[in-house]
Amino acid sequence: MKEIWCWGIGVTALLLSACSPKNTVPQLGKESITDVVNAMTLDEKLDIIRGAGMPTANGDAPVVGHVAGKVPGAAGNTNPIPRLGIPALSLADGPAGLRIDSERENDSKRYYATAFPTGTSLASTWNTELVEQVGQAMGNEVHEYGVDVLLAPGMNIQRNPLGGRNFEYYSEDPLLTGKMAAAMVNGVQSNGVGTSIKHFAVNDQETVRYHIDAVVSQRAAREIYLKPFEIAIRESDPWTVMSAYNKINGTYASESYDLLTTILRDEWGYQGIVVTDWLAGRDYAGQVKAGNDLLMPGRVNEKTKIQEALSDGRLTEAELDRNIERILNLVTKSPTFKGYKYSDKPDLKAHASLAREAAAEGMILLKNEKEALPLKTKKLALLGNTSYKLIEGGKGSGQVNNAYTISLLQGMEEAGYIVDADLQKKYQDYITSASTGDDAEQSFAAVKPLDEIQFDQSELDELANENGAAIITIGRQVGEGSDRDIETDYYLVPDELSLIKNTAEAFHAKGKPVVVVLNIGAAVDVASWRDDVDGIIVAWQPGQEAGYAIADAVSGKVNPSGRLTSTLSLRYEDVPSASHFPGTPARRPKQTIYNEGIYVGYRYYNTFNKPVAYEFGYGLSYTTFQFSDLEISSETFDDELTVTLDVTNTGELAGKEVVQLYLAAPAETMDKPLEELKAFKKTKLLKPGKTQTISFSIKASDLASFNTDRSAWVADPGIYTLKIGTSSRKFDISKTFTLENEIVTEEVHQVLMPQETITEITPKL
Ligand code: BGC
Repeated sequence: MKEIWCWGIGVTALLLSACSPKNTVPQLGKESITDVVNAMTLDEKLDIIRGAGMPTANGDAPVVGHVAGKVPGAAGNTNPIPRLGIPALSLADGPAGLRIDSERENDSKRYYATAFPTGTSLASTWNTELVEQVGQAMGNEVHEYGVDVLLAPGMNIQRNPLGGRNFEYYSEDPLLTGKMAAAMVNGVQSNGVGTSIKHFAVNDQETVRYHIDAVVSQRAAREIYLKPFEIAIRESDPWTVMSAYNKINGTYASESYDLLTTILRDEWGYQGIVVTDWLAGRDYAGQVKAGNDLLMPGRVNEKTKIQEALSDGRLTEAELDRNIERILNLVTKSPTFKGYKYSDKPDLKAHASLAREAAAEGMILLKNEKEALPLKTKKLALLGNTSYKLIEGGKGSGQVNNAYTISLLQGMEEAGYIVDADLQKKYQDYITSASTGDDAEQSFAAVKPLDEIQFDQSELDELANENGAAIITIGRQVGEGSDRDIETDYYLVPDELSLIKNTAEAFHAKGKPVVVVLNIGAAVDVASWRDDVDGIIVAWQPGQEAGYAIADAVSGKVNPSGRLTSTLSLRYEDVPSASHFPGTPARRPKQTIYNEGIYVGYRYYNTFNKPVAYEFGYGLSYTTFQFSDLEISSETFDDELTVTLDVTNTGELAGKEVVQLYLAAPAETMDKPLEELKAFKKTKLLKPGKTQTISFSIKASDLASFNTDRSAWVADPGIYTLKIGTSSRKFDISKTFTLENEIVTEEVHQVLMPQETITEITPKL
């Protein structure tokens, strides 16, 4: 038997284990996981629940999320126990593609990964199939570079536009976030590698990120901040969940039994493992007890602290073993355990073309006066530093070490445009001279945009004479560990505003259009300057094929079909969390109180009747669509409703539309948002005159809100209105149905209780 095992199975286990017929030590994969756990020494147990550690920079400060070892530049490794046939796994970031070092010591080969569009850009496609395909490609790179778990997707809520990592996240809406994350996880994991949905939970800011206490009502927690994770768990079963740095109502997320066991496992049935965020929390034994299986990246004093807790009874060995069993279960699924011979050669070419397709589909056409776009001219004045150095993604753990990034100059030239040569030279000289050369791999810090070159009016007049249109690119790039600044990041700075204004004056005097391309990670102000220009495209940080993808949208090769996944407000002060973000006290916040409750994003703007610049779900197309023949299977809700409608392309060009279904629920026993997104679908590419029938199914859980007093999801009786349209404010077609009797769709535990009273805003009932 032993001999057969030796020859037959588990190349890695074979290499790692002392394989002899006399060997009676249980081997992972051969004997049961329980037998392997029982054979472990305490020392081995304390090794397996923590990562292998991080190197230190200058011998002291740890470098977060970057280790040497099997895959240089991965964020962390687990500890192997060769005696028991347990190999070390590699875990690497991140949400826009695999983050590993592209260069290795004494090796001339390059290990580039594809920089895919950032999370916000992907979500803006509203196309779950496409996001799943991107996940498949990303997961293939993970697999082919020898990594076991991708530390992605990032799926916190874009609660406030200043959130430093919003670019990694999907939306202000929990349903859209959950669906995108599930698609991504399904795609990545189809390769036989794992994901880590992060950061669980209520981790919506970077200010004092290791310790901030997010004080949130149970209703807001359940409906807004936990919901996306619940959807991802139920619809995609990620191998791992990453617990967040912050506290929730006084307890570190990574130490919260309520969160990691009661909700995640008991209520949602999660079977995978929980991994801490890197260096999260304080009470290591408390983390283990709460159900945080793996402590990453592995700290020196974790072992002794946990040992102490075992000795004084704060932690039992059974609790430790429970976590270890889960970790070993993950190990047995991993490519490393299975001895996968990775190639180090993923198909980067094929992935680049998918990155371009996804990037183009995530572009949002915000404004298009007098059909400025697609461009009608071939001669272009390309302005703004970023046009010549597009930003493919954000900094920090969401960064990718890709081989190249296509500039807008390259993209437009490749598409057949002639870019003003003098202007080109001026920008390129300036960028070279102003470059600080701090583009280093793995930098977590935000990058300040270069000052915009200013032109005197005669130069701009000359440009307007020579060219048929102007494109101005405005760029932003943030990192990790801090939130964005209002004055210099959210709002455009004076030299950007004057560049836009003066260029527009010169070009408009000649009847020529000016288009602004926003190469941004998350929302910026648009209200103060949008009237100056004819066209606005939100390109986001669209990955390495950036320039090609923007050119595709600007030229009309691709008809824009991206839609906003978060509201663009009229002023920063209008954001519902503006007055209390990032928390109190102002100098170094200790807590951030979620006074806006469930009224995040459009839930707030719509319910409180506030004007916005561009609403959630908004985006223009080069064609037009009509919705018709809305039918629902019954006007009385029983336990499910089917909704169908036809979408017809009534314009002149092929295009895709996003059909958005919102529900207005009766506010019988609780206040409710005026509308909530309950389903969405993107059509296929419809040629002019073509129609597609779209159908949705509405379940009782879609009708329910969280009733805190009853600790239950309850659908109130009354009249519900289905509103179907192309944004959260543009409903083309609607129908009502009645729920005769209340339905309690789920009773849950009374957990995550705030320790203080939160005065939430509420609409008038
Ligand atoms: C980030 C995580 C990341 C980890 C490993 C942390 O600082 O918050 O998102 O996965 O580092 O790099």
